[in-house]
Amino acid sequence: MSTNATTPAPATEFAKRAALVTGAASGIGLATARRLGTGGARVVVADYNAEGAEKAAADLRAAGVEAAAVELDVTRPESVEAAVGFTVDTYGSLDLAVNNAGIGGPSAPTGEYDVEAYQRVVRTNLDGVFYSMRYELPAIEAAGKGGAIVNVASILGSVGFAGSPAYVAAKHGVVGLTKAAAAEYAARGIRINAVGPGFIDTPLLKTMDEAAYNGLVALHPAGRLGQAEEVAELIAFLLSDRASFVAGSYHLVDGAYTAV
Ligand SMILES: NC(=O)c1ccc[n+]([C@@H]2O[C@H](COP(=O)([O-])OP(=O)(O)OC[C@H]3O[C@@H](n4cnc5c(N)ncnc54)[C@H](O)[C@@H]3O)[C@@H](O)[C@H]2O)c1
Repeated sequence: MSTNATTPAPATEFAKRAALVTGAASGIGLATARRLGTGGARVVVADYNAEGAEKAAADLRAAGVEAAAVELDVTRPESVEAAVGFTVDTYGSLDLAVNNAGIGGPSAPTGEYDVEAYQRVVRTNLDGVFYSMRYELPAIEAAGKGGAIVNVASILGSVGFAGSPAYVAAKHGVVGLTKAAAAEYAARGIRINAVGPGFIDTPLLKTMDEAAYNGLVALHPAGRLGQAEEVAELIAFLLSDRASFVAGSYHLVDGAYTAV
């Protein structure tokens, strides 16, 4: 399998910007924390896997990035508020945020879906993004410098997928929340966008057997799953000043999954 190498960004691209990345102990969040850090950002690695977050932050520091870890549960508003406060206390402001924490949930048809599992998926993948923006936006505004947020949705924010009603509903909701908030904050210098990754080779998919994995590969005309770094690159672009007129939109990174 080959992936196109991403172009290294200038190390000053995000200089003096403080970034909060949720779910940054693993997968797409971890790759994004690395990408923003190597672009010069000060990065807060936030995750409910506290040990994983500490390790990720230590690895970033070893690579010369200013990074700190905070334990965060996005399903609890007070935990999100505290993580935002931690970022401001540690780095003096919050300028960039990536609302990425998410779970997959079990697979079952809607008529058989476990109600508690539905609530858990929606609480994490949708309510968690609302709580994140709820506390990030006032903090970004308070710094008075403008800023940018990227919410991590999915291709399943625009198309359905049998057996995943909670995940599909939550990710469609993330796209809607992104548009609503973007319309409110565009004139205040805060750009908010969403990304829609296809299936990405991360620990989220690790429970899958080989046949199921190959079945997913076959759904992508690119002939492979994506890599976390390929999503991180799009997120970094959307957070950068290079995307200065990109706001309120949903950007696919899916190897043509939704094109067919
Ligand atoms: N992997 C894919 O195929 C894929 C495709 C499209 C979208 N996504 C989305 O990308 C995001 C990241 O997924 P990933 O594939 O990197 O998964 P991952 O499991 O590797 O990472 C998710 C991280 O989120 C953290 N997390 C989960 N619940 C949390 C909570 N309540 N509070 C704080 N942290 C929490 C986990 O501890 C983990 O570190 C998710 O929102 C997922 O829905 C993934």
